[in-house]
Amino acid sequence: MSARDLNLGILVSGRGTNLQALLDAKTHGQLASSLRVVISNKPGVQALERATSAGVPTNVVSHREFASREAFDTRLVAALRDAGVEWVVLAGFMRVLTPVMLRAFEQRIVNIHPALLPAFPGVHAQKQALDYGVKITGCTVHLVDEGVDSGPIILQRALAVRDDDTEDSLSARLLAEEHLALVEALSLLEAGRLRIEASSSTGRTRVFTLPA
Ligand code: GRF
Repeated sequence: MSARDLNLGILVSGRGTNLQALLDAKTHGQLASSLRVVISNKPGVQALERATSAGVPTNVVSHREFASREAFDTRLVAALRDAGVEWVVLAGFMRVLTPVMLRAFEQRIVNIHPALLPAFPGVHAQKQALDYGVKITGCTVHLVDEGVDSGPIILQRALAVRDDDTEDSLSARLLAEEHLALVEALSLLEAGRLRIEASSSTGRTRVFTLPA
């Protein structure tokens, strides 16, 4: 992939601190890509306010208005395409995507997850890590495939778990790492420094980081 500015669409469901990290990175010149649209599956969430304050167009596509996940995804694809989006970022987007979205943006959907995958996929990853008793956890930026948090890993950041951590304290420290990881992954992407390659021996797709 060669270096170029990307047209990004951001999908959100809630407070949007990862979105804010991208907006701030744009402001500070750490990201050059264009944030074409922020789409939420829930009306009235803080992420929409953050986008509006930054002058990024918003759209609400409520999953409740669709009879199936596929119908919802078909509308999402249309909204993203209308906005000229090439790459999609899931920034706290709490819906599982169907092949409708995955085919439309094949290997062009990025997710941020608050655990060191493949450990602790799914919801409440921070609680899963605490309950298990791991001493190191972290966050993962990965490409989205048909599984839940199972796609090719772009990058990870590790974090020590403290004995007195609660779900809230661990989540708060992890969130700061997520913001750094997401911006770093997207800047590698726009610099053309990610090589996505399927292994002929394992069949698994891996993402390699090219030197600057
Ligand atoms: C983050 O922890 C993210 O990893 C997870 O959902 C949370 C979203 O937070 N997928 P925010 O909406 O970006 O503040």
